[in-house]
Amino acid sequence: MDIRAMTIQDYDAVYALWMNSKNMGFNNLDDSREGVERLLRRNPTTSFVAMDGDALAGVILSGQDGRRGYIYHMCVAEAYRRQGLGSELVSRCLAALKAEGINKAALLVFNRNEAGNAFWEAQGFTVRNDVAYRNKELTKLIRIDT
Ligand SMILES: CC(C)(COP(=O)(O)OP(=O)(O)OC[C@H]1O[C@@H](n2cnc3c(N)ncnc32)[C@H](O)[C@@H]1OP(=O)(O)O)[C@@H](O)C(=O)NCCC(=O)NCCS
Repeated sequence: MDIRAMTIQDYDAVYALWMNSKNMGFNNLDDSREGVERLLRRNPTTSFVAMDGDALAGVILSGQDGRRGYIYHMCVAEAYRRQGLGSELVSRCLAALKAEGINKAALLVFNRNEAGNAFWEAQGFTVRNDVAYRNKELTKLIRIDT
């Protein structure tokens, strides 16, 4: 398995994998080619793809804003799950964030995503019960929930 930094050339395969994976949340702007290209331009070192030859086996999309690291989407193709690949992608991502001086990373996962929550628990990502996640759209976004 070859794990390397994601580039925008990977977008079509990555988007197809995202759309085929259940319990993930996307939107029409941030996850468009233009949105992902903007993220990768600002954060060229923190998103990774795992390639099995020409086939995409997994991807982690992540960036940082100078303070926090954020993991946006983590996905391993079904045929490659439960073999440690997701964990390997997370450790590559966290090492890249740490190398950029980032001290904490955060992510969102649907409550209904039991496997996703078990995975993030195993990676040491704890749930905060003392805060409410609030956000506000600056542009109308169309949700794409898989
Ligand atoms: C969640 C996901 C990324 C895990 O990838 P993976 O390569 O299978 O993960 P790993 O093999 O590294 O698993 C590491 C540990 O996480 C936990 N885990 C992973 N998948 C699990 C599942 N389906 N059920 C329970 N625990 C799970 C286990 O503790 C596992 O260790 P173990 O296999 O020794 O028991 C993958 O199932 C996936 O892409 N799911 C769809 C997208 C998604 O839900 N993404 C996360 C939320 S955004």
